[in-house]
Amino acid sequence: MTAPRNIVILTGAGISAESGIATFRGPGGLWEGHRVEDVCTPEALAADPVLVHRFYDARRAALSAVEPNAAHRALARLDAEWPGELLIVTQNVDDLHERAGAKRLLHMHGELRSALCARCGAREAWEEPLPPGSMCATCGKAALRPDIVFFGEMPYHMDVIERALSEADLFVSIGTSGAVYPAAGFVQGARYAGAETLELNLERSAGSGYFHETRLGAAGVLVPAWVEELLAA
Ligand code: APR
Repeated sequence: MTAPRNIVILTGAGISAESGIATFRGPGGLWEGHRVEDVCTPEALAADPVLVHRFYDARRAALSAVEPNAAHRALARLDAEWPGELLIVTQNVDDLHERAGAKRLLHMHGELRSALCARCGAREAWEEPLPPGSMCATCGKAALRPDIVFFGEMPYHMDVIERALSEADLFVSIGTSGAVYPAAGFVQGARYAGAETLELNLERSAGSGYFHETRLGAAGVLVPAWVEELLAA
């Protein structure tokens, strides 16, 4: 393979697991007995806003107790040193990629440390608990909600992501089960565009069959080794 120029990296909950943030579909993948799919839908938000806001308040508060791990730091190093195009697309709503120093980063499922106005679409950085009915500073209505893409809603930045995939020479998926679309379909789009595809994951995923290569192991071990290999080439 000629040296890649344009790299797209997709990350999932597995890259944050070694920082102590629970994944969704692992052994501890329930939250207070709720499946994520049951708590994170527009219907759940309408039916029980207190429960849904509490779910995200707990996850936002937990961010102050965790740190980026070696995998986040390795991707931030690659971002800083890679001379070609590079885009990190994360499904995660934590801020560990940013705190490790990543710059060329998009959150396709939203961010815990952001509040979205359901009425005017304005966003505000948000660190504290977000009670239902919090006031939007832009339109002055009590319409702030967690800035999270719920099941059934359109992920963010899909136009930019699809363009990057169409121009990618290398697509790397890290720490995701390949259970949720459209992210789970990115590997097929990248292959269609002629990219090499590599999966780094603790176990085989639903998408493993689509990758040219799958390396099994912990992200904290596989990602720094892969970045070292890529930068040395
Ligand atoms: N290193 C690498 N991979 C790991 C590690 C680790 N230390 N620990 C777990 N994994 C892998 C698991 O084997 C699994 O394949 O990470 C993957 C996590 O899968 P999920 O829990 O399904 O998380 P994710 O794929 O990010 O979920 C996608 O689903 O719930 C929605 O919106 C939510 O963004 C999330 C989306």
